[in-house]
Amino acid sequence: MVITKAKTLKGEITVPGDKSISHRGVMFGAISEGITELTGFLDGADCRSTISCFRAMGIDISQDKDHVVIHGNGLHGLCSPSNMLDVGNSGTTTRLISGILAGQPFVSSLNGDESIQKRPMGRIITPLTQMGAYIKSLKDNGCAPLEIGGKPLRAIHYDSPVASAQVKSCVLLAGLYADGITSVTEPVVSRNHTELMLSGFGADVKSEGLTASIVGNPKLTGQKIAVPGDISSAAYFIAAGLICENADLLIKNVNTNPTRAGIIQVAKAMGGKIELLNERIVSGEPVADIHVSSSSLHGCEISGEIIPTLIDELPVIAVMAAAASGTTTIKDAAELKVKESDRIATVTENLKAMGCDITATDDGMIINGGNALYGTTIKTYKDHRIAMSFAIAGLIADGDTTFDDEKCPVISYPNFFETIKTLLS
Ligand code: S3P
Repeated sequence: MVITKAKTLKGEITVPGDKSISHRGVMFGAISEGITELTGFLDGADCRSTISCFRAMGIDISQDKDHVVIHGNGLHGLCSPSNMLDVGNSGTTTRLISGILAGQPFVSSLNGDESIQKRPMGRIITPLTQMGAYIKSLKDNGCAPLEIGGKPLRAIHYDSPVASAQVKSCVLLAGLYADGITSVTEPVVSRNHTELMLSGFGADVKSEGLTASIVGNPKLTGQKIAVPGDISSAAYFIAAGLICENADLLIKNVNTNPTRAGIIQVAKAMGGKIELLNERIVSGEPVADIHVSSSSLHGCEISGEIIPTLIDELPVIAVMAAAASGTTTIKDAAELKVKESDRIATVTENLKAMGCDITATDDGMIINGGNALYGTTIKTYKDHRIAMSFAIAGLIADGDTTFDDEKCPVISYPNFFETIKTLLS
């Protein structure tokens, strides 16, 4: 795959289903009674890992591309898996499934790829242990492989030191297996798909300010869910539409939940031409079509409460900042260091290699935009979002942009490069 400068970028696209919502649909369907049907499911490697973990615990799941049918066995219907569960590259699978496994009467274990074995799991080990769970990092390094389950849980209130939907969801899911009310308070609100969807399945979930709570032992009933397009995947095309010349893109059917949609505010703050059309609610989530066109962007500061609402989009926002005039400062984003790669380091290294004036900081980056970018071979560190963000940078760079691993978008956006091609012709 070679990306070169785009002379025009025009068209109408849809992006694959939301990754966070797809994972949750499978998990919540598996522990509900009756059938859950997902349309628009993200058929990417991460969500396939979630399906295979629940199949390994006896759940009948059929999948035909983006159509998934889950025959739930109820809250207490999972079987003990005969092998270690394989979570692949997926942090969401690891942390959310751990909450469910903590509440099972059997002990199970899970592991994933090299990247997963470096991601911090102390953040779920601490609250689950407070709930009385057995959970152990088998190498005693706070990371996977993990061994979990077999002990009764008690409801707790947990003050989370990080704004993480994965931590919040893990504790709320464990709370399904505890008597009484389990609650989590976060320093800043993170994405709320678990709260919205579990409530749709029949759980008693409340969100008040920074606190989400759940009542244990609910009856969950299978649902039909239309999964909207993933704003984290739309983000690449939002950025491309704003920074490329002669660009005009309509990205249809995108989830615009405010706990996810920070990139829209940032695009506006940078002077981007972006509008939301046909706004509606689908399966309890806000959805819209997003129209973007070529814009003269200027730098801005991105910090504080907005960070969790655009955490996965920061690599491509950094690319927008490189194309913008003036300085963009990203702060309060130290969480970037513990994603699929250390994204402060991997974004800085690659943008520098393309000719951008960028400095890494402890909790973000400072980008002095406006330099001409030139193509290079991107070091992806097998991180899907690094590969895709720098493909977008390649669309405004002189010369060829290539990748040391061009397969990694398969994690969240299997047809990513094909979609770019359709807009160039
Ligand atoms: C996710 C939450 C975020 C995000 C990840 C998906 C989720 O992680 O980066 O891609 O589906 O809950 P954290 O909860 O660790 O911030």
